[in-house]
Amino acid sequence: MTDAYLAPTLPDELPNNPMHWAQAWLAEAVAQAVQRNPWSMTLVTVNDKAQPSARIVLCKAFIADPGYLIFYTNYQSKKVQELTKNSHVAVTFHWDALGRQIRIEGQAVLSPAEESESYFATRDTGSQLGAWGSDQSMPIGSRHALITQVRDRARKLGVAISDGLQPLEGVQQPPIARPPHWGGVRVWADRIELWIEGADRVHDRATWKRTLTRETDFDFAAGAWAGTRLQP
Ligand SMILES: Cc1cc2nc3c(=O)[nH]c(=O)nc-3n(C[C@H](O)[C@H](O)[C@H](O)COP(=O)(O)O)c2cc1C
Repeated sequence: MTDAYLAPTLPDELPNNPMHWAQAWLAEAVAQAVQRNPWSMTLVTVNDKAQPSARIVLCKAFIADPGYLIFYTNYQSKKVQELTKNSHVAVTFHWDALGRQIRIEGQAVLSPAEESESYFATRDTGSQLGAWGSDQSMPIGSRHALITQVRDRARKLGVAISDGLQPLEGVQQPPIARPPHWGGVRVWADRIELWIEGADRVHDRATWKRTLTRETDFDFAAGAWAGTRLQP
């Protein structure tokens, strides 16, 4: 991260592409290991009764150009049920140790299958098994029933697991295919705010907006960012 990105305030003349700044702040949070999950972010979706719902997910890719991020999840989960009906979502990163917050709003689309496949292939066997083991956000009668379900699914996949549900090491485990109901979600940004903590709550804030025009199932054509400084 260059000194400019680390400066205690944003430049007088706001940067043309705030996504580069966001990317640099993320990289800094990772480099400084400011928390166990520096890539964690709050994701807000809205249901068909206009009720918002927030939860933490992990950002797995931040693509400053053309400007979207990716997280991975179960497509039967509440969040995906909501964002496939209402693609408008919001995401917030906060690193207390850096005194920085990033707020992103935009449109969510499911990743192309190849993107989900390539990422799934990089996961360890335990995480791959986890994607099969849980029907995310569906009710289940008891913890015991959940553990039985995970064991049954591991058996069906031919994966040998320990009492603690971990794939056994030192034994040949079969390859695990990506579940069709598991994959990536791209969040295309059409608004971003960068926030830097200041003394006595005189924080530095700026927001940028741009237009997104849908081009394919997965991509948008994006207009130029226009930035405005905000009072804290
Ligand atoms: C640090 C952290 C990281 C998480 N990362 C993810 C993630 O990347 N994907 C995911 O589906 N859930 C993740 N979760 C679990 C979600 O917060 C949430 O419980 C789950 O996705 C169900 O949400 P939903 O019912 O709104 O779909 C994470 C939770 C925490 C605390």
